[in-house]
Amino acid sequence: MNAEFRINGVKIITERLFLRAFKQGDINDFFEYASVKGVGEMAGWQHHENIQKSNEILNSFIKEDKTFAICLKESGKVIGSLGVEKYGMEDKLTEFFSYKGREIGYVLSKEYWGKGLMTEAVKAVIDYLFNEQNLDFLTCGYYDFNTRSKRVQEKCGFKPYRKLIMETRMGTKEPGVLNLLLNPNKQIALNFSHPETLLYNK
Ligand SMILES: CC(C)(COP(=O)(O)OP(=O)(O)OC[C@H]1O[C@@H](n2cnc3c(N)ncnc32)[C@H](O)[C@@H]1OP(=O)(O)O)[C@@H](O)C(=O)NCCC(=O)NCCS
Repeated sequence: MNAEFRINGVKIITERLFLRAFKQGDINDFFEYASVKGVGEMAGWQHHENIQKSNEILNSFIKEDKTFAICLKESGKVIGSLGVEKYGMEDKLTEFFSYKGREIGYVLSKEYWGKGLMTEAVKAVIDYLFNEQNLDFLTCGYYDFNTRSKRVQEKCGFKPYRKLIMETRMGTKEPGVLNLLLNPNKQIALNFSHPETLLYNK
């Protein structure tokens, strides 16, 4: 089942970054990276054509309180987002019925790609969700064309879980992989459903 999750004012600090809830003052930094073509598209959403679009999304981030702003420690600049989302098909994935989890999604400003920053952010959030929030599992997905994101997930310990056709927010469908990470501090024995899409342990 999906775990309850809210950021609730928590700040996560890593070597080069800090992660905190979004606030209204982040609008310019957010628009700066969200308006660049080919960034959001890799995560299934269209780049923002205008600041009103960024404002609408920023307001939903603030209201829902489940998306971290990824900030550079040295300047405080917001350079990305990391959402602790609900995983989908909750009623079909019977293996998770007695376990609590969420799905992670993320985007980084194109200027900062290739420096290991997202891997650093994702690892810190995994640590927080497993060790402080006591979650049992996390999922994280990527479209087949997104080899960078695939690599981030590998480096964070995720394992291939299911091969799926995933819907984008642009109304298209893309083949992709959903990955799974189990909390290593717990004894979790999953009895998997839907063998037709299953990749885990293969
Ligand atoms: C995916 C994304 C978050 C990666 O962030 P990042 O900070 O650049 O990631 P890292 O530097 O931690 O790791 C990237 C890895 O991909 C590798 N990589 C870079 N270009 C690559 C390519 N064209 N093909 C395959 N791997 C590539 C890097 O070498 C690195 O792996 P390594 O450490 O083994 O060398 C960033 O590119 C992004 O925001 N993309 C757009 C949004 C997106 O795709 N979100 C995820 C949706 S599932």
